[in-house]
Amino acid sequence: MTQVLLENVSVQFLRYREPPQIALDHTNLSIEEGEFVCLLGPSGCGKSTLLNVLGGLFPSSTGKISVGGKSVSQPGPDRGMVFQNYSLYPWLTVRGNIEFGPRLNNWPAAKIATITDELIDIVGLKDYAGQYPKVLSGGMRQRVAIARALAMEPHVLLMDEPFGALDAQTRSRMQELLLDIWSRKRNTVIFVTHDIEEAVYLADRVLVMSTRPGRIIEDFKIELPRPRFAEVVASEEFTQYRRRMLHLLRH
Ligand SMILES: Nc1ncnc2c1ncn2[C@@H]1O[C@H](COP(=O)(O)OP(=O)(O)OP(=O)(O)O)[C@@H](O)[C@H]1O
Ligand SMILES: [Mg+2]
Repeated sequence: MTQVLLENVSVQFLRYREPPQIALDHTNLSIEEGEFVCLLGPSGCGKSTLLNVLGGLFPSSTGKISVGGKSVSQPGPDRGMVFQNYSLYPWLTVRGNIEFGPRLNNWPAAKIATITDELIDIVGLKDYAGQYPKVLSGGMRQRVAIARALAMEPHVLLMDEPFGALDAQTRSRMQELLLDIWSRKRNTVIFVTHDIEEAVYLADRVLVMSTRPGRIIEDFKIELPRPRFAEVVASEEFTQYRRRMLHLLRH
């Protein structure tokens, strides 16, 4: 079933004494339920813009966007977002951050407790449940952010370079964690990155975007077996995908 649909979507930003900036140019896109899709492209090509209009943070200038058959016009519980800058609520504990959405939506206390416990367990933060974000490392904060985005049981998880600021080892652990969660929950994931290797490693599909005005110029179906152990990453097929994407991004 089609989960995410963009038809002819453009986003223009008005600028002071300059022509409007076209951040996203007549984009069409269809994503199936449960797919893991990476958006890959150079800085400024409109990746965050695409994710943010999908999240309903601002409207598109033209076109139609729907998620689960419903038209998108504002943020909603069907779409969980994770941002690059670990935007947690500093005044709430780990548990408080994860519970925030369900509480706001007046879910029954028992249901909130069950979901929160499960998520704290999945992201491995049992010993930190009562701590505040300021004492957590970057990787831990991003784990809280992922758990918080999952708490509302969204159909679609929108992730904007969530591991961009992490060291290589933490990043690789976080990729494993995300794939593990995805294999259990089977949410549709749209994951922004500018790292080719990360995109090929994670995705079922990699959408490559061009420089401004942002457009999807190629749609790679990644036919590598999962789990993608070291042999897969070292394989000729993996290298081929990487090479083709690098070529596209360079030209
Ligand atoms: N709120 C805004 N107001 C005006 N222009 C904006 C706004 N947000 C983005 N832009 C412009 O739209 C274009 C696309 O920006 P966007 O943030 O989507 O790029 P990106 O691909 O996410 O880049 P990066 O990889 O650096 O995060 C850029 O030229 C940017 O200057
Ligand atoms: Mg961005």
